[in-house]
Amino acid sequence: MNKSYSQKISERQWNLPDKGELESQREDTFIDDIIQKDHLERQVLAALDGVETVFDGGAGCGRFSILLAMHGVKVTHFDISKPMIDKAKELAEAAGVLDKIEFVQGALEDLSAYGDGQFDMAVSFDAPVSYTYPNQEKVIGELSRICKKKLLLSVTSRLGSLPYLSDPIQKSHYILDENSGDPFVQWCLSHRDEMIETFRFDQAAAKKLLAEGVIGGEAEVAEYEQGGAPWCITYGFMPDELRGILERLGWRDIRMAGPGAYARSISWEILRKIMEDPAQRRDFLDFCFVYDQNPYVLGMGKDNLFAIAVK
Ligand SMILES: C[S@@+](CC[C@H](N)C(=O)[O-])C[C@H]1O[C@@H](n2cnc3c(N)ncnc32)[C@H](O)[C@@H]1O
Repeated sequence: MNKSYSQKISERQWNLPDKGELESQREDTFIDDIIQKDHLERQVLAALDGVETVFDGGAGCGRFSILLAMHGVKVTHFDISKPMIDKAKELAEAAGVLDKIEFVQGALEDLSAYGDGQFDMAVSFDAPVSYTYPNQEKVIGELSRICKKKLLLSVTSRLGSLPYLSDPIQKSHYILDENSGDPFVQWCLSHRDEMIETFRFDQAAAKKLLAEGVIGGEAEVAEYEQGGAPWCITYGFMPDELRGILERLGWRDIRMAGPGAYARSISWEILRKIMEDPAQRRDFLDFCFVYDQNPYVLGMGKDNLFAIAVK
C-alpha cells in the first residue's frame, strides 16, 4: 500500500470546514467525551513535573495544547487540519495563551523536521495515531524519538471498538442534550429506528476486527488503498500490543487505562441522570478515573486506549 494514502485521506477528511467548530463542542454534547476528556486531562496534568516543552500530535482544536499552555508549558500544536488549527488559535486567544503555542500544520507520518529528544514530552490524544493506518507503528516510533522524558498516547481500542459492530446506536446512549444543535446528535436520533430495523449481527466481521484491528469493511479498505475513501480507516490496538510497541522502543514505566470502561456498563437513563447533577457528576468522574485504570478493564475503554510511558 502506498504509505501516503493515510495522509491524503486525513487531509481530506479533517479539513472539512466545519470540523474545528464541531470538535470543540463535543463535551457539551456527549457523555463519553466528557469522561474521556476528564480522564486524559488528569493524566496529562499529573505528568507535568519536570516538563517544559510538549509536542501535541494531532492536537485538534486545542483541548490539551491550550490546557498545557495555561499550565506554563511551551507547546507545539501539530495537526493536519487547517480548520482545527484555526479553531484552536481562536480558543487559545480567548484563553490568553496564543503566544505560548506554536501552531504547525503537518502530517504525523512525517516528523522529520524535529530532532531526537527535542521535547520533554509528546502527547497524542483521541486517536490521531490510529488514523495513520497503516503507518501507526512508525508514527509511535517517531513520537517516541522526538521526546526525551514522557510519552502519552490515546489510540483507538480494538476491544472497545467491537461493541459498535453489535450496537450501531450506542453513540445515541451518550447524548447529554437531545436538543443540541450538533448535526451529528440529530443524525443519531433521527436514524435510530432505521438502524435498529436494518441491523443484523455479522459474526465474521466481528472476528475479523478482533483478529486484525482494522476498522472498516473490506470494500472500504480496498477503496482506501486506492486513495478513494472520504474517511480514514482506523487501526485499533490491543492493550498488550501497545505495551509491547512501547517496550520495544525502550520505554519502561508504562501505565495504561481505558477511559469510559465503567460508564459503558451503566444504562443511559442512569448515566444521564448522574451527569445532570454536578455533585454526582464529580464523584462519578472521580470513580471512573480509578476504575478505568484497572488492568482488567482497560481494553474496554469507550473508543480509546490510553498509555503513559516514562523514561
Ligand atoms: C479526534 S481529533 C483529536 C484532537 C485532540 N488530540 C483532542 O484530543 O482533542 C483527531 C485529530 O487528529 C488530526 N489528524 C488526523 N490524522 C492526522 C495525521 N495524519 N497527521 C496529523 N494530524 C492528524 C485531525 O485533524 C484531528 O484534529
